[in-house]
Amino acid sequence: MTMTGTATDSPLPLTPDYDAWPIEVLPARVSHDERVLELHWQDGLVSRYHSVWLRENAADESTVNPATRERILDLSTLGDWPTIADAALNEQGALSVTFAPENRTLSFHPGWLRANDYSNLEQPDAPLVPVTTWTGEEMAEPISLDASGWLAHADTHPEDDPQFEALLQDALKAVLGHGLVRLRNLPTEPGTLARIAERIGPMRDTNFGTLFDVKAKPDPDSNAYTSIALPFHVDLPTREYQPGLQFLHCLENSVEGGQAVMADGFAIAEALRDEHPEAFATLTRVHWCYANTAKVTDYVWFDPMIKLDDRGRLLEVRIADFLRGPLMAPFEDIEPAYDALMQLQRLLKEPRFAQRFTYLPGDLVIFDNRRLLHARDAFEGSSGHRWLQGCYMERDEIRSRLRMLWRSERRRRVEALDQARPEVAVEK
Ligand code: OGA
Ligand code: ZN
Repeated sequence: MTMTGTATDSPLPLTPDYDAWPIEVLPARVSHDERVLELHWQDGLVSRYHSVWLRENAADESTVNPATRERILDLSTLGDWPTIADAALNEQGALSVTFAPENRTLSFHPGWLRANDYSNLEQPDAPLVPVTTWTGEEMAEPISLDASGWLAHADTHPEDDPQFEALLQDALKAVLGHGLVRLRNLPTEPGTLARIAERIGPMRDTNFGTLFDVKAKPDPDSNAYTSIALPFHVDLPTREYQPGLQFLHCLENSVEGGQAVMADGFAIAEALRDEHPEAFATLTRVHWCYANTAKVTDYVWFDPMIKLDDRGRLLEVRIADFLRGPLMAPFEDIEPAYDALMQLQRLLKEPRFAQRFTYLPGDLVIFDNRRLLHARDAFEGSSGHRWLQGCYMERDEIRSRLRMLWRSERRRRVEALDQARPEVAVEK
């Protein structure tokens, strides 16, 4: 019989999530005062945790509902500020803390503590994948992946299928980091986009349909559904929350013209900030009108053209000249706003920013619609057929899917460490 642990092993404490946390390093020593606990790890790192933070993040069933792993504790019901009366480590590195005034002892998983050590983070809210801005001169083509296997794995869980996992991770990281990926060699049957996209997450429905056909149509309700050129734009800036992701899947392309053009709106915004700081400031301040007033719908929204988050990082751009309504701004803002707009329009025309490529049937581009700008050359409608299918999704879905992939990697690491453990115990 194989030993699965030492005789003194007790089960590791639960964590307040569904994740798996490998224990790569053990804590060597714990010290504390009433409000702060210090863990000294075997590799020399020192992690510091506040008593109130530890108490709120305990994983016992009075703090977290075991069925949902959602918190049920309301800190304000504890009577007083939670403080640390005692703390100890067991032989597996689990930390037990006795909290006052409750006089309750709760245990913490060392792998979880290490992974959630906020005291050693340089940037606690760093993006999952660092954002790399690019110009067409630096990156002439989208990051491209052979996705011929994408649907062969259609009935598996993305996280239980190592072959698919690698492809999916590469695709998601490209979209998060560079804002764009091109998957190649996919099937060209109409409707397959839904099955492809579902492997990442749910699609976002709009008045154009969950899946929309981009082809020249007799009674178009969008310039996209004609054969004219489309200037750089994002889709649906007319919505309070413009879709985070756009998918365009090429089913047919035998026309003359109709090349795809893509540019990184964040790189253009950065160039504007460097070269025309006043124009940049104006475009982050003035609220433009975005309008899609069709025969049966009437979407209107007001927002800046470049939006920063509360840390000053680029959050989104809303650039689409053909989807703007009349500017309704304070009288004295009108001229500076148009002056800034024209500075931006001149930058958009500089060839250095653009990537230009031709869709092949079976290509699918997935891009960040709140960051990337897409455009299209005019095409000759009678020269052949051009048919793309598109859909939208939110950025949240790729972040969730990538976290799930990383979770399964950690689970496999935990299993590998568990396998290795008996050997060590026997040698001792
Ligand atoms: C769109 C669009 C680009 C193209 O449908 O929103 O921009 O290449 N299409 O047809
Ligand atoms: Zn578009």
